Amino acid sequence: MNQDAKSHDSDAGSGDPRRGFFAQVASIVVGGFVGLVPLVSGLVVFFDPLGRRRSQGGKPLRVASLDAVPADGLPHRFPVIDTRWDKWSKYPPQPIGAVYLRRQSEDEPPQAVSAVCPHLGCAVDFKADQALYQCPCHNSSWTPDAVRVRPESCPSPRDLDELEVEIRNDNEVWVRYQRFRSGIAKKIPE
Ligand code: FES
Repeated sequence: MNQDAKSHDSDAGSGDPRRGFFAQVASIVVGGFVGLVPLVSGLVVFFDPLGRRRSQGGKPLRVASLDAVPADGLPHRFPVIDTRWDKWSKYPPQPIGAVYLRRQSEDEPPQAVSAVCPHLGCAVDFKADQALYQCPCHNSSWTPDAVRVRPESCPSPRDLDELEVEIRNDNEVWVRYQRFRSGIAKKIPE
């Protein structure tokens, strides 16, 4: 048998080393991709509660009965209660914030205003004796209809954040509770 014939027999027996190398690389790539799919799916499920918690920011929540909001033109504070998600655990309903409801007459739905200061997020109080909303952190103040007092010198860059209100079943006040970015003039949901 001559040298060429030996070489041909040898290639046929052990295979082309380059072909083997490419086959190995291809199997690693395909195997990695196949392994990646369940890994990504697992991560999505793993972090899902966090995403769900964020999306709860804009959902309507029952805040009070209409009867509980006096039609006296003054803001009244009500807690906002919802189920809380902390990482992967679900907790029983508990306060997640507060809103002010204000009715000017029995015939109209209340105005709802977030109790979160648009400046840096402190809790705003309504001072009935001064007929003003006030923020204790940097002394921003707003009129009862949530408009800034002296906007040119007010630390808050905007009026208080009004929230959507819906009356359900004739006597339930539902508010789309939502937080907005602080420190900017534009009202942008978080
Ligand atoms: S956080 Fe309210 S005025 Fe600064």
